Amino acid sequence: MERLRFPVFWCGTILFGSLVFISHTDGRPNMYQLRNVCKFCDLQPTDCNGTDSGSCFTNCSITAICPQDDDVCVSIWRKKDDNVTIETLCHNRSQELYGYMLDDYKNRKCQMKEKKVPGSQFYICSCSEEECNHHLFFSPWAPPGDSPFMSVILVSLMPLFVLAVLVVSTFYCYRVCRQSKLKSDWETRKRGRRGQRDSDVCNIMIDDDRSDSSSTHANSLNHNTELLPIELDLQVGKGRFAEVYKAKLKQSASEQFETVAVKIFAAEEYASWKNEKDIFSDINLKHENVLHFLTAEERKAEKQYWLITAYHPRGNLQEYLTHHVISWEDLWLLGGSLARGVAHLHSDLTPCGRPKVPIAHRDLKSSNVLVKNDLTCCLCDFGLGLRLDSSLSVDELANSGQVGTARYMAPEVLESRINLENIESFKQTDVYSMALVLWEMTSRCNAIGEVKDYEPPFGKLREHPCVESMKDSVLRDRGRPEIPNSWMNHQGIQVVCGTIEDCWDHDPEARLTAQCVAERFNDMEHLDKLSDRSCSQEKIPEDCSVCEGK
Ligand code: ADE
Repeated sequence: MERLRFPVFWCGTILFGSLVFISHTDGRPNMYQLRNVCKFCDLQPTDCNGTDSGSCFTNCSITAICPQDDDVCVSIWRKKDDNVTIETLCHNRSQELYGYMLDDYKNRKCQMKEKKVPGSQFYICSCSEEECNHHLFFSPWAPPGDSPFMSVILVSLMPLFVLAVLVVSTFYCYRVCRQSKLKSDWETRKRGRRGQRDSDVCNIMIDDDRSDSSSTHANSLNHNTELLPIELDLQVGKGRFAEVYKAKLKQSASEQFETVAVKIFAAEEYASWKNEKDIFSDINLKHENVLHFLTAEERKAEKQYWLITAYHPRGNLQEYLTHHVISWEDLWLLGGSLARGVAHLHSDLTPCGRPKVPIAHRDLKSSNVLVKNDLTCCLCDFGLGLRLDSSLSVDELANSGQVGTARYMAPEVLESRINLENIESFKQTDVYSMALVLWEMTSRCNAIGEVKDYEPPFGKLREHPCVESMKDSVLRDRGRPEIPNSWMNHQGIQVVCGTIEDCWDHDPEARLTAQCVAERFNDMEHLDKLSDRSCSQEKIPEDCSVCEGK
């Protein structure tokens, strides 16, 4: 508001000023001023030395209201020998004075002009403002605004000037209004987003009050009645049970569309679709590091089952690491977000503090992690996910079998010796797999020194090693992917490698929790400044206390 006042004030002032000026441009007093008020003294000696002084005042102390309407103020300066005099008077502008017509009476100030008078120096001026014949100007330059020429110039330029001021102030107003609108839009959006985040986390409470925490999204399944208007595009992935497509989700009644990912299961893979749909349908799963689920559909005509989710153009982490060497900052972002995603999956509370069913992923690997545009991770492919419901019996858990991808299987999974009495065991197997993914990221980080081409963990094994060969490496040889000493020249990498080793411990109980890994990454935020120092005084952050002894 304050900013708006500025141009409005100046615009008003200038417009008003222009009008007043224009009303005076003929130099005549306006219609409200009837008679002139002038100095009115007879010849008086003066010490005003005319042109030498530039300007001077008369000594006249008499002010008169001129007797006639047409009278203007006049002053005459004379010099004869050494006598200098000044005469002030009112005089009718249409009549001669000392043989001269007054041609400058429109002036507001008295600008002396020399006239040729034999035997003396003679200067005369006339003007039309109150007592304007008191202050006499001898300088050759007329005071601004008094010359008719100047007036003409000013009058002709004034509309242009006013127009320019109007244009500038209109533009200024427009900019100010626009900026304040943009700002308020931004604030609204920010508030909206914050609100959305809060509501993502917290408004679910309303659902919880009515149902259990496994309540599904209202739109989690389209029962064939109204299928979404989706046009499939390229295939972007292929898993054991399904294929993933980039697709266009059309906006109703417009050409616009949203890009989504569609995971298509053949009819025979119904069980896998159902499992993933049920996992996604727990609204408490929603998290920035878990793939955002939109809906599930039974496409009966095509004998297919669909899961529709957010689309991430950077693709999965394995592809990303194959084609990109990452920086320490990237490693910190990718690793920290991966750990936060797994921690959320495993947690029995939402970030808002409400109860949630913990979930074990059971197939964590770099191809089941997507890279978002901000270079954070989100977990995907919950086809083997297991809801660690406290009501699950040991038999039910036991029946869930040895599942996952052999390359990423924890030692206890490889030998089918999971402690089924404790749901934490399933989380511990995920943490082992996560360690291998963290190792893959680290192996492609330029902070380790020389970076080799991407290789999966236990890369020397064939493309899809079977359980038996993994048993040889992981159980018999107690082998783990190599962490060369040369990686240890960066303090951040040192902490990451220490964390990885704490996560792939042979003893599941000795492994860190995903939450602890997330906190370690948090604490590493400032280690970026220590890049390339092999011998630093700086302190390595301590482990979070809850993880001590883990
Ligand atoms: N590959 C598998 N799922 C994907 C997704 N949601 N976005 C991009 N690529 C994917």
